[in-house]
Amino acid sequence: MRPEQAGLPRGAASLNMAPLPPMIKRPRQFLGLLVALSMGFAGVTTHAAESAGRERLLLDFGWRFHLGNDWGPGYGLAKAGTGYGPGSSDYSDASWRRVDLPHDWVIELPFDKTADGSHGFKAIGEGFPQNSTGWYRRTFELPASDAGKRLWLEFDGVYRDCTVIVNGWFVGHHEGGYNGFRYDITDVANCGARNVVTVRVDASQFEGWFYEGAGIYRHAWLVKTAPLSVAPDGVFVFSTFKGGAAKGPAEIHLQTRLANTQGAAADASVTWEILSPAGELLAKASRSQTVGPKSRAEVEQTAQVESPRLWSPESPSLYKLVTTVSSGGKVVDRVETAFGIRTFAFDADRGFLLNGEPYTLKGTSNHQDHAGVGSALPDGVQYYRIARLKDMGCNAYRSSHNPPTPELLDACDRLGMIVMDENRLLGSDSLHLAMLDEQVRRDRNHACVGLWSLGNEEFTVQGTQSGRRTVATMQELVKRLDPSRPVTCNAAVGNDYPGVNEAIEVRGWSYHVGPDMDAYHKEHPLQPNVGSEQGSTVSTRGIYANDPVRGYVSAYDDNAPEWAQTAETWLTYFATRPWMSGGFVWTGFDYRGEPTPYGWPCISSHFGIMDTCGFAKDNFWFYQAAWTESPMVHVLPHWNWPGKEGQEIDVRTQSNCDEVELFLNGRSLGRQAVKRNSESKWKVVYEPGALMARAFRAGGVVAETKVETTGAAAAVQLKADKPAFWANREDVSLFTVSVVDAQGRVVPVAGNGVAFEVEGPGRIIGVGNGDPSCHEPDTLMAVASSHTLPIDGWRMKKVARSNQEMAPEDSMEFDDSAWDPVDVRADVGALALRERAFYRTRFKVEAKDLASPAVEVVFSRIAGGVGVYVNGHKVGGGVDGHSAAVYDVKALLHPGENVIAVPVENYGPEGAGISKGVVLRLMEDPPALHWSRSVFNGFAQVIVQSTGESGSVTLKAASEGLQAASLEVKAMPASPRPSVP
Ligand code: GAL
Repeated sequence: MRPEQAGLPRGAASLNMAPLPPMIKRPRQFLGLLVALSMGFAGVTTHAAESAGRERLLLDFGWRFHLGNDWGPGYGLAKAGTGYGPGSSDYSDASWRRVDLPHDWVIELPFDKTADGSHGFKAIGEGFPQNSTGWYRRTFELPASDAGKRLWLEFDGVYRDCTVIVNGWFVGHHEGGYNGFRYDITDVANCGARNVVTVRVDASQFEGWFYEGAGIYRHAWLVKTAPLSVAPDGVFVFSTFKGGAAKGPAEIHLQTRLANTQGAAADASVTWEILSPAGELLAKASRSQTVGPKSRAEVEQTAQVESPRLWSPESPSLYKLVTTVSSGGKVVDRVETAFGIRTFAFDADRGFLLNGEPYTLKGTSNHQDHAGVGSALPDGVQYYRIARLKDMGCNAYRSSHNPPTPELLDACDRLGMIVMDENRLLGSDSLHLAMLDEQVRRDRNHACVGLWSLGNEEFTVQGTQSGRRTVATMQELVKRLDPSRPVTCNAAVGNDYPGVNEAIEVRGWSYHVGPDMDAYHKEHPLQPNVGSEQGSTVSTRGIYANDPVRGYVSAYDDNAPEWAQTAETWLTYFATRPWMSGGFVWTGFDYRGEPTPYGWPCISSHFGIMDTCGFAKDNFWFYQAAWTESPMVHVLPHWNWPGKEGQEIDVRTQSNCDEVELFLNGRSLGRQAVKRNSESKWKVVYEPGALMARAFRAGGVVAETKVETTGAAAAVQLKADKPAFWANREDVSLFTVSVVDAQGRVVPVAGNGVAFEVEGPGRIIGVGNGDPSCHEPDTLMAVASSHTLPIDGWRMKKVARSNQEMAPEDSMEFDDSAWDPVDVRADVGALALRERAFYRTRFKVEAKDLASPAVEVVFSRIAGGVGVYVNGHKVGGGVDGHSAAVYDVKALLHPGENVIAVPVENYGPEGAGISKGVVLRLMEDPPALHWSRSVFNGFAQVIVQSTGESGSVTLKAASEGLQAASLEVKAMPASPRPSVP
């Protein structure tokens, strides 16, 4: 959607020119573009749009969540359709917490010193079984008109192993935290009726050595297609040029995989239309194909685009392929695919080639988590992060060490960022190859994906022949699925060839900067190289001396682990070796876990050029100076050093200009010539005031910056990354909170606590401050409490006959006064093998009880139950007896006397019937949430998400003793993405 369509005034681009977070000095043009993009594309997916025959509905909203390993798997294998506990459709989740996806429950857990430090000291994994299993449930109606369609449940990523149960049917078990997966649920779905999806997620096993989150942390979808359709991930489009040079007409290769689920063959006609970035039809091709019964078929064509606008990070032009499938004169499917026309290649001497020309990869490696939200990033946060990297001059992103979420790739397609798309688990058995197959098919149309990485630092197998064979098999699969891209593997070895390096197309280098690289290149002159993992300076934002006690590392470009290098070292080495292609710094952003070089109390890493919020550390400008040309200069440290008057301070300036001159309180401290990929060092005797750096090109001043000694903290200040977001329940605004002095200057050492409130159609979903040792919560949960009322007074009657549906004894009116009382609180039930009985009770509730948000009957145990009737309505069928049976009875109870009847047939062991007690559980309203976060060295971040309504959203920030702040952003009317009601 364009801004105008959404009701934004013309010139919305300038309205959207939000101030950048204050750590950035020079707003760049593309930020306006970013806002337009992140807002404008909010309703579009790259792979598919709605059309006749196909619907792709977001399944993110309205889930219920329960944390705990309380029910076993939730289904039995002995007989089909026997979901139990939450796996049964009857089970009540009315008291479970409401959540929307994406959702990461680890971010909600407490820090624990005994937990795994590489995962951020969160209480998950080994030793925390109760925190390591989560249950999700979603109930929805399907229209009767869906009968005859194919129905798919799709998950973009769940951490980690998960079991999916639909309407009591076990439909699949997926292992692996980073791949997408889908299940065809056509046969078990209820069209014209209620459906319940249950997902049991088991995150007890770590897959990496970094924060991974847990839960359904990426989007979920319900996809409906006609029986003859494009198969899942069934479109592939790529381009080649005659002679290999990216010039002249591009040959567009069009491939479509069709799926026919009907019992008879179908004649399909496929039409491909290529639309220019401006939306003009450039080329059209078609082909007919008969698809056999219950079969798939590949259809191929080529088309030409005469003078393509080549995609690059600097000019991310996207074309659109519209694939239409018709049969019997009727359109049955239509899929839209965004793609780029460009070439990626490596040359052993010239390094990486983009569109045939040498192009230095100025890359960063990144994990996927962000402050406040863990691994569950709203799409808007993906755009924010890619934009922050671009502002630094970064042109390449490595999704380390796993396949990224599709929306990260969308952001890279549109903003212009080459992606090294990395596989997680190395292996060439059928399971691992299936995962790799899924990754490549899903991601290969993205303009941004520049190379595939098969793995990372596989120490055990890197040098072995089994490692070589495995990688060769994997690489062969990737090449078969995608002949258009190079393949690498990040290898933490020096000049070592045997093993993986023998087989891999592009030698990936994890560190090992130095003579090993030269020697390897000399000995293997035909193999291209890439610095797939380089750097990495460890640093903490705003800190200028190492502090092992608090867990902070100085922000000067001085400290790197023994296996790694500072920015200056690796950039300088690579600068004279174009055959290395450039590299991917470890890392662009801090991430939770791996708190190198310290341990507790640090909970996040120090590797980032930015912190977990995306606030710049000083090396942001080191890289900007190395990677960009637009004149800039930066000076560090801050200039608040009370008590250090008269002492020398280590001052550095970073610039991409010819010379830098430094001034203290107006006095020149001299000029230094700038050395590229380095910084200028100064010793300055401290006195409070202003330290100013001026940068020159050809003798003229082209850039200037300063740090000033501030006064005491006086006020809170708020800025938003954009002045408006879409009122679509998904879009977000990222607010930067700062503590400033009376003159509005950020106090660089401030650590004040700040409380937040939102008014209007927005809600806070997370807060952060980039402090690697902060244990304040990133998010708050509205966990409601409950109380119970006993349901006693049970009577029982044994019967000889088999129970029928709705027997007279199940009705409300039935007179059970002559039946014997029975104690249902006993540990074992009253029925022997093969006995049958009815249980009944009458109990009173008051109107105030029924006003509770959730009213449930909880049976601790019913063994052999065949039905549960409340006031004559059946609320549950067969009950397995393993676990508590819980029913939502809010709509069935009335003030006064109510009746429950339970017919039981015991085919199992002795002691069946109702036991261990029955209660009525009444939930309270969820508590109000009180958000707060301390600023760290002056800054914090608040992420506010649309609630779906339009209007003004005001964030208010207050801190004791400081002037409060409030800032309004607009939630603009928007059509939300089609979603499951
Ligand atoms: C690398 C590894 C990364 C991270 C980094 C820390 O060896 O690939 O995942 O652990 O070390 O320095």
